[in-house]
Amino acid sequence: MEKQDKVMLTGVRPSGNITLGNYLGAIKNFVTRQNLYKSYIFVADLHAITSPRNPDELREAVNDCMAMYLACGVNPEQTTIFRQSEVLEHGVLGFIMTFQTHMGELSRMTQFKLKSQNMGKNGIDTGLFVYPPLMAADILLYNTDMVPVGLDQQQHVELTRDLAQRFNKRYGNTFNEPDVYIAPVGNKILNLQNPAEKMNKSDGQNLGTIFLMDDLKLVRKKIMSAVTDCEAVVRFDEENKPGISNLISILSAITGEKIPDIEKRFAGRGYGDFKREVADVVCDLLDKIQTDYKRFKKPEVLNKILSDGATKARVVASETLERAKLALGLK
Ligand code: TYM
Repeated sequence: MEKQDKVMLTGVRPSGNITLGNYLGAIKNFVTRQNLYKSYIFVADLHAITSPRNPDELREAVNDCMAMYLACGVNPEQTTIFRQSEVLEHGVLGFIMTFQTHMGELSRMTQFKLKSQNMGKNGIDTGLFVYPPLMAADILLYNTDMVPVGLDQQQHVELTRDLAQRFNKRYGNTFNEPDVYIAPVGNKILNLQNPAEKMNKSDGQNLGTIFLMDDLKLVRKKIMSAVTDCEAVVRFDEENKPGISNLISILSAITGEKIPDIEKRFAGRGYGDFKREVADVVCDLLDKIQTDYKRFKKPEVLNKILSDGATKARVVASETLERAKLALGLK
């Protein structure tokens, strides 16, 4: 099979501003491979209604996410870019996939366990529970071969593969079984203030999360005040030196420089020097992204790309859904 015949797909929830973690864990890996695959990227807006939201904020977040994809280098000439809720097949196949999924499997999902703890007080929405079968539908509709995501989404993609296998066994070969792609470096960027936790969109109140649209002075401040340790040696050791290891990963993921080479280069130099370089590299990256973001954040640019993308996506999604319905006896 030609490389271009293989399909790559990923998505981001428009549930807050996009972080450096989202970029390094997923978007960057998508962008660098988009010309090797038949590529799809979407704004996962159905996945963003798992908590009550202000509708205007959601609309704005979808546009932000789209403009950010473009600013990060997603090329609409090579990649189909669309909004999940505009392709109705996602909802239908998502519903069908819930019937392939065991309650036990969903209860074991780490993301469900973490998020339901926060929701617990007011009752847990079923939407949060059945989030993975919808994510499976997102992936399976496009005959996806490869899904680049951060480490926190690996379990969902693996479940998707299991569900595809189960469906194929029960009803005959219908879905392609996707592989997950986890980047060797940058797959779990940690909170700069609390490196025991992942960097999260929802932790915007402190200095721990870098958003791609942050003011560059603030970005520098966040990196210079990142929590480290008192050893004063730039050495990669995730267990004993999570803060420094996180900064090394950020540097390596952005520049491509190998971790041992970074360690060698900073041998005998202090954390101040090291942090300054990380800050320079991150600020250079964000400066470029922010300039492009302003260029793309225009309704006339975004609407045209989204409507072309949805039209293209619907063709493939409807073929797959028809195949699934036929297999199930729904046609
Ligand atoms: P979301 O919106 O939480 O995150 C988007 C992508 O960013 C990755 N990511 C990280 N990577 C490294 N370090 C971090 N700190 C970090 N934080 C987030 C996530 O792993 C993800 O790849 N359910 C998905 C969206 C989705 C999707 C899909 C993805 C819906 N359907 C189908 C792929 C395929 C989500 O909530 O991602």
